[in-house]
Amino acid sequence: MKKILITGATGQIGSELTPVLRAKYGNQNVIAAGHRREPDAELTESGPFCSLDVRVAPAVEAVVAKHGIDTIFHLASLLSAVAEQKPQHAWDINVNGLINVLETARTRNCSVFFPSSIGAFGPLTPADDTPQDTIQHPTTMYGITKVCGELLCGYYQKHFGVDTRGVRYPGLISYRTPPGGGTTDYAVEIFYAALKNRHYDCFLKADTRLDMMYMPDAIDAAIRLMEFDGKRLIHRNGYNVTAMSVSPADIAREIKKRLPDFTVGYRIDPVRQGIAESWPRHMDDSVARNEWGWKPQFDLPAMVEDMIRHLSSRLTAP
Ligand code: SER
Repeated sequence: MKKILITGATGQIGSELTPVLRAKYGNQNVIAAGHRREPDAELTESGPFCSLDVRVAPAVEAVVAKHGIDTIFHLASLLSAVAEQKPQHAWDINVNGLINVLETARTRNCSVFFPSSIGAFGPLTPADDTPQDTIQHPTTMYGITKVCGELLCGYYQKHFGVDTRGVRYPGLISYRTPPGGGTTDYAVEIFYAALKNRHYDCFLKADTRLDMMYMPDAIDAAIRLMEFDGKRLIHRNGYNVTAMSVSPADIAREIKKRLPDFTVGYRIDPVRQGIAESWPRHMDDSVARNEWGWKPQFDLPAMVEDMIRHLSSRLTAP
C-alpha cells in the first residue's frame, strides 16, 4: 500500500480509518473521498480530500488515475434501515458503486477492501456460532447488496486477478462519527443519550443479542487484512469478525455501573426489530483468527469504559 483511496471517508468507519492510515502511510498518500456528508476540518486539513460519487464510473477512474492509487478502501455504502426505505438507491450505491470501484481496480491494478456485514446473513442462517461458510439468504436490501458485494469481489479476484479482501463487520460502536441509518445504531445512540439525558429509549427489544465491535478493532481488522501476505489468504472476502455478542440490556447494565442514575426504556421499531432478528447473534470468527491473525482488543466493559471517557470529554468540550 503506497497510495490509498478511501471512499466513504466522511462516514462512520472512514472518518476513523483515514487518520490512522495517514499516520502510518503519510498524509499525502491517503486520499479521502466523501459525498453525502460534509467533511470535518481534520479530514480536509490533514491530507488530500475530494468529493466523489461512486455511482459515477468516470469519476472513480479519474481520482484513481490522478493520484496513482494502488489500494482502495471502498467504504461508501447505505446502511440497513435506510436501505429498506430506499431499496433502489441502496442497490445503486452499494452494488453499482462497488462495480465501478472493481472495474477501476481491474484496469488500474489496485487492491480493494470491501466491508460486508452481519447483514449478509438471513433467517435461515444458524444464529449462534454462525459458520464462515453457511447459508446466506438475507431478507433486507442491505443484505442482498452485501452478499452481491462479497460475490463480486470473489469474481473479480478469480477471473481478473484483482486483489480483493474483506470482512463481515458486526455492529460498530464509535464516538467520533455517528453511523446513521443502521439497525445497530442503538449501540451508539445509547451512549450519547446516557451522557446527555441519563435516559435512552431503545428501538430494539432488551434481549436482542447481536455481534458488536469497538471501532479501534474494526480499523485494526481492515488494515491487518490488507497488510497480510495475500498468498496465505484462503477465503479472502467476507471473513466473519466479531468482538462481543451483546443485547441492549447488556450494554445498559454496563453503562449503569458507571452512570448509576442512567435508565433505559424500550420503544420498539418493528422494522429494525425484524431486521435484527434475521441476523446472527454470534458469528464464529475462527477462520479470520487462523488465516490472518484477527484478534479484537475490546470486550464489552473495556468498550463501555473507553466510550464514556471519550464521549464525555467531546460532549463537554467548548
Ligand atoms: N451496522 C449495520 C447496520 O445496522 C450492519 O452492518 O446496518
